[in-house]
Amino acid sequence: MKFYHALALALASSTTDAFVSSPSYAVMGGGCAIPSSSSSSSSSSSSSFRIACRRPPPPTPALLFMSTAETSESSASSIARRQSTEGGGGGISDVFPPILDELRDVAMRLHTREQAPREGRAESPVRSTETHVPTHMDYLRFLVDSRAIYVVLEDIVNNNDKLAKFRKTGIERTEELERDIAWMCDKFDLHRPSVGNAGTTYASELRTMVKSDDDIPEFICHYYNYYFAHLAGGRMIGKQMSKLLLDGETLEFYKWREDVNDLKAKVKDQIEEIAKQWTREERDKCVNATADAFKGGGAINGYLYGGSAH
Ligand SMILES: *[C@@H]1O[C@H](CO)[C@@H](O)[C@H](O)[C@H]1NC(C)=O
Repeated sequence: MKFYHALALALASSTTDAFVSSPSYAVMGGGCAIPSSSSSSSSSSSSSFRIACRRPPPPTPALLFMSTAETSESSASSIARRQSTEGGGGGISDVFPPILDELRDVAMRLHTREQAPREGRAESPVRSTETHVPTHMDYLRFLVDSRAIYVVLEDIVNNNDKLAKFRKTGIERTEELERDIAWMCDKFDLHRPSVGNAGTTYASELRTMVKSDDDIPEFICHYYNYYFAHLAGGRMIGKQMSKLLLDGETLEFYKWREDVNDLKAKVKDQIEEIAKQWTREERDKCVNATADAFKGGGAINGYLYGGSAH
């Protein structure tokens, strides 16, 4: 059976059952997927690893895929959230569903029917047999650009008191990536590349995003999608790259000091907490930023499938 691993920004991990039984693959700007010949639990040889890709990538929002592995914890917590909001008495928070449910719903609609049979609305991309095998340099560029985004996200959180609850949560990645980048350069004798086009573009978009408190909902959408993509499908990319390029070595990028599910639950609660104060319009601003968040993150993943020029 053909099996596709989640590449990329695996988004709102609050997937319900839509993906549980379906093989997963990533569709990003370039309509690319990582096929592998065996199930995710067995180790496929690196030589069978290819990233199928259509070139050049179309200028549509990058559509990214969600991990199938993340489902039970999140749907349970989303039910718990629903129940807890149903019980309360009269505040704004009782009027709206959890913001992460809303974000999940819009993310699902950005998937194709094939990826999400019940909720997907996007057209399936035309697939071709053309493949791109990522090199050490491609992966290094991906890490360098990813780090540039985490730097901005952390800066914004550290400098805005309204976002104080998102400081030092344990999901930060800049120091880990710094170590990985240095290690990659040393190990494979590579020159550290400067931040590429994908990273520069998305970083500057983020940097100018929060001009006033009104822009916080939009920022939270980007914050959530970027971190949680990495906490879900991003880890699958890491496993694939580890096998393909690093002889099984695990980068610091994929190591957290706490249990990942605990970390995710903690940050999700903080997102719900901040969203409780939002009006319907503010919630819409948050939800409406999803396509841009996909696009920004997807462009960086593009280094791995030949879809982003440096
Ligand atoms: C969100 O997007 C919808 C559909 O494009 C639009 O009608 C609405 O005005 C947007 N809402 C906000 C608050 O940006």
